[in-house]
Amino acid sequence: MIESKVICPSCKKNSIKDRYQTYWECGACGRQYSCVNGIPKLYDEDALGMSDKGLRDKVYKHMAWFYNFWNPFFMLPVRPIKVSVKYWIVYFLLVFSLIFLVYNFVDLIAFRGIGEIRISDILFFIPLVIFIFLLSKHPRYAHLLWLSIPIKIILAIRNFKPIKTHASVHGGFQEEYLQSDKIIRMLDIASGSGNSLFRHGWMKLNAEYTAVDLSAGMILQGRRLMSKHKVPADFILTDATKLPFEAETFDICTNYGAFNGFSDTKAALKEMVRVTKKGGKILILDEREYEGSTWLEHLYYKKVFACYNTLVGTPADLHTDELEDIQVHQPYEFVYIYTARKKM
Ligand SMILES: C[S@@+](CC[C@H](N)C(=O)[O-])C[C@H]1O[C@@H](n2cnc3c(N)ncnc32)[C@H](O)[C@@H]1O
Ligand SMILES: [Zn+2]
Repeated sequence: MIESKVICPSCKKNSIKDRYQTYWECGACGRQYSCVNGIPKLYDEDALGMSDKGLRDKVYKHMAWFYNFWNPFFMLPVRPIKVSVKYWIVYFLLVFSLIFLVYNFVDLIAFRGIGEIRISDILFFIPLVIFIFLLSKHPRYAHLLWLSIPIKIILAIRNFKPIKTHASVHGGFQEEYLQSDKIIRMLDIASGSGNSLFRHGWMKLNAEYTAVDLSAGMILQGRRLMSKHKVPADFILTDATKLPFEAETFDICTNYGAFNGFSDTKAALKEMVRVTKKGGKILILDEREYEGSTWLEHLYYKKVFACYNTLVGTPADLHTDELEDIQVHQPYEFVYIYTARKKM
């Protein structure tokens, strides 16, 4: 297991001597790290970046338990209709309810007059106020409501065709590892719900998996998914910009759907490179607009799809001379896949 390669975030020594269900302790500096349901929190709260902390506490903390339900909502116009029927049903129910509530309110004020107010008007007014309050507090949902249909239509008309599909990029990346006799060490950073680690072909490898994330709620989802499918894996709560592993520990390092939102993307890439073995490979997937997107698509991208991003672009913009064979693919309209190899 990867525990032998873990370093103490404080003294950076590979000397965690006690690993209990409730805490881990460093033998060198004596620091104790608490655990959440047996998963150690190997990071310094005070050293976290603002947007990492913000995302953890304002977004993922509340979203974690419903992540698999909520997340596809933001991708409503980009996912094929056949996989998002239930989301479109919820969407139309919400839109029609909102139209009905607004209609009832306008009818009262403009036509019937306030003197004609009925009990039902008050009952309809309450959900309208709640709706408006929630949409103003979470503009991402408000933009999703009005943009979903126009974006769906634009994407259908433009019919984007990738040069390489998501599956073929993954297939090409994984090919050299498929026949490996030795056990591959794979690290999935910001692994969260574990969906990407579990679903994109990684489970075919003869690998030892390590999943790290900053959010306890999210990583517990990932652990549940892996144990449901009986996949042994190590889980650690940590910050992507300060990974608690020795240098050159992993053959493969991946990062799905989080990179462009990190407080310090440069440090995050540097850490990925540091913990990857020489000759090992890195794959990062996150948001980027395709070339020639319309202003409405740009609005959807900025306000809904990638509204928490700090980096506009891809890791290829963050130069590091330790990597070679850097490639950036655009498998979907708003998604890039970056792949690279660490030089020998
Ligand atoms: C959109 S989710 C992606 C989850 C997962 N990779 C997947 O594809 O299902 C983003 C994840 O990044 C994690 N995250 C954000 N900032 C982080 C950081 N600085 N270090 C580690 N994880 C972080 C969040 O907690 C969240 O679980
Ligand atoms: Zn220590």
